[in-house]
This record gives sequence, structure tokens and C-alpha cells, in this order.
Amino acid sequence: RDSRVISVELLDWYDRHARILPWRSLPGQGQTDPYRVWLSEVMLQQTTVAAVKSYFERFTSLWPTVHDLAAAEDSQVMAEWAGLGYYARARNLVACARTVSALGAFPTTRDGLAALPGIGPYTSAAISAIAFDLPETVVDGNVERVISRLFALETPLPASKPEIYELAGLLTPAARPGDYAQAMMDLGATICTPRNPACGICPVNNGCQARIQGIAAELPRKAPK
Ligand code: ADE
Repeated sequence: RDSRVISVELLDWYDRHARILPWRSLPGQGQTDPYRVWLSEVMLQQTTVAAVKSYFERFTSLWPTVHDLAAAEDSQVMAEWAGLGYYARARNLVACARTVSALGAFPTTRDGLAALPGIGPYTSAAISAIAFDLPETVVDGNVERVISRLFALETPLPASKPEIYELAGLLTPAARPGDYAQAMMDLGATICTPRNPACGICPVNNGCQARIQGIAAELPRKAPK
């Protein structure tokens, strides 16, 4: 199936079914505040969407801009972070806010973002796509599962990661890459779920090789630990 058909169908589904989340703009609105995108993506590393919501609201009401967070006391940020876990993330958060504040604003390129403390390849791609609508490919665990199924990849994770990244890149549209990235995440979280994927209501089921082969729930395969 034409990769453009898949991205168009996914964006069309996102327009109707996007989860309303405090760090998101409405579908089709494009560019979002990079501070809010960055803060949410750091919080969402190894923490669920449901758990992050209230923390995100509290942080952004206490510190509405990156400059406010940069000026906060370390101890207050650590106290507000309590419960989210992985405290190195909170330390990096403050370091990153201070670097960005000293720069004056968030860098607007992927490489510029990747040079900031605590920002790896995933986060730099996510901020590029979601905040700046740059056509970067955003691959998290949800996207790995969706791509593995769309292409019925038999190679187990993690060996399949380079191929997944390449295929995900081929699917990424030039238009609305930020909405597209979040549509892939929503699809993985709500329909293309690990155990019982809801293939019957999936917006891209026509193009899904794993569904056609009847093996969606078995993918992605995983190498024994
Ligand atoms: N997980 C990581 N980033 C996310 C986002 N922007 N929306 C939903 N889930 C996510």
C-alpha cells in the first residue's frame, strides 16, 4: 500500500479521535510551545500518560515558561517531581531549562535540540516534529509495534530497530509531521495495543500486513533475554 495512503488515513483518524491531552494543541493547529512539548516528553519517558497529566498541569502553572523553571530552586523542582521517579530526569530538566534560558529560547533544529542536557534522539525528534512541525521520524515503543505490524516484520526486537526506523521514516509525511507522530502514538496506545489489537476499527487495517496474515497480536517478535 502506498505510504501516503497510510499517513493520510492516520491523520484523518487523528482529526476525529486525537486524545485531548494538556500538552497538545488541537489537531491541525500545527506549531506548539516547545517548552510544553519538551516538558511533557521528558515526563512521559518511562511514565504513563495518565500519571503525567496532573504533574504537567502543576509544573506549567508553577512555571509557565522555561525561564520561570530555570529560575526555580532545585529543591522545589525535585519536590514537585516526587512520585514521577527516575530522579536523574528532574536534575536534567533543571539543567536543560537553565541552558535554554541562557540561550534565550529553545533551539529550532533537531541538532540544536539534541545538544541540550537530557535530550536524546527520541526527544529531539519529538520536539522537532510536534513543536516545530519538522518532518522528523519519531519512534517510541508504540511506534515500534505499529511499524512491526504494518510490515509484518519477522526479525525480533531489538535487531529490527534499524529497519523499523527506516520504514517509519518512509511513512512520515512532509505535511503535519507533528500530528502524524502523535497519531502513531495514539494508535499504538488505543488500538494497536500489545495484547488484543482492535484491528476491526483500525484506520490503517487495509494496509496492515500482520492483520492480513492474522499475526498482529504476535508481533513484534522479541529476542529471548
Ligand atoms: N508519549 C510520549 N509522547 C507523547 C505524546 N506527545 N502524546 C501521547 N503520548 C506520548
